[in-house]
Amino acid sequence: METVVSGIRSTGKLHLGNYYGAIQNFVKMQHEYNCFFFIADLHSLTTHPTPVDLHSNVKQVLVEYLAAGIDPEKATIYIQSEVPEVTELYLYLNMNAYVGELERSTSFKDKIRANPENVNAGLLTYPVLMAADILMHRATKVPVGKDQEQHLEMARTFGNRFNRLYKHDYFPEPYAFNFSENLVKIPGLDGKGKMGKSEGEGNAVFLSDSPETIRKKVMRAVTDSGPTEENQLKPTEIQNLFDLMQVVSSEDTLTHFEELYNKCQIRYGDFKKQLAEDMIVATTPIRERIEDIAKNEAYLRQVNRFGAVKARESAQKTLKEVREIIGFKRI
Ligand code: TRP
Repeated sequence: METVVSGIRSTGKLHLGNYYGAIQNFVKMQHEYNCFFFIADLHSLTTHPTPVDLHSNVKQVLVEYLAAGIDPEKATIYIQSEVPEVTELYLYLNMNAYVGELERSTSFKDKIRANPENVNAGLLTYPVLMAADILMHRATKVPVGKDQEQHLEMARTFGNRFNRLYKHDYFPEPYAFNFSENLVKIPGLDGKGKMGKSEGEGNAVFLSDSPETIRKKVMRAVTDSGPTEENQLKPTEIQNLFDLMQVVSSEDTLTHFEELYNKCQIRYGDFKKQLAEDMIVATTPIRERIEDIAKNEAYLRQVNRFGAVKARESAQKTLKEVREIIGFKRI
């Protein structure tokens, strides 16, 4: 069975874009691959969170992933900082990562531009830590978005360089992995691009949003003054709402509103009301599970221990072999 690894940055609440764009795929993958899904809390230290934020963000991600259907009996779910082996592998890989290539990474350049007062060495070596996460389980498949492509290329470079240096064909090459052919695109509610947290208040619908909040956000979504010609092309802001409806509503509902639009008889108020109600139906079971799981400290502790044990087993096996390959020996 091939190994899949994906790290999830602990940046808080999940929205419909995360869910339909990524997590639903994770849930399917866990049945077919040896999956490791971890919470990248060490990576989050590059931006110095307060201890309270660090902890609450980690817990939030763990709760929401479990609520969304990642099954700790199938996939290995763990918190990066609970597997200290990763920091040792990171150290070895750092010896072979060149400052020049790290400085050329686009994400490094973006981050130092955004935060010129905090250009720490951890930020520079972020891709090395990410490579350690992946190589530690000798994974070949990494489900991540386009923005992580360059980091994955670096992981391949570091793994290959290690293999060449020590003349051992040890680390396999990890590649980006899309599980389903047709990637669903989840637009936001602001009439522009995709759903995202940073696009401003009201653009994203979170899995934990109450029905009231969802209704408010959807009713405020950007629309136009309505179609004027039969079968006319939909402008982006209207197409976005139809795209969302395609994901959360039944085919009949979608066809019904498509027909009304094409006959210039659509009333956006009714259309949005229906969209909001269907979003509520789609998210309610997850929201209820989020609330239940968040309260169940004993369960969370158990999941966390179980995941850390499984992840460390895999990590320790690799580390033992890596130390031998490098040449460490007991005197
Ligand atoms: N860099 C990734 C991101 O920003 C998170 C991450 C850390 C990751 N380690 C990883 C993703 C290992 C996949 C595999 O989203």
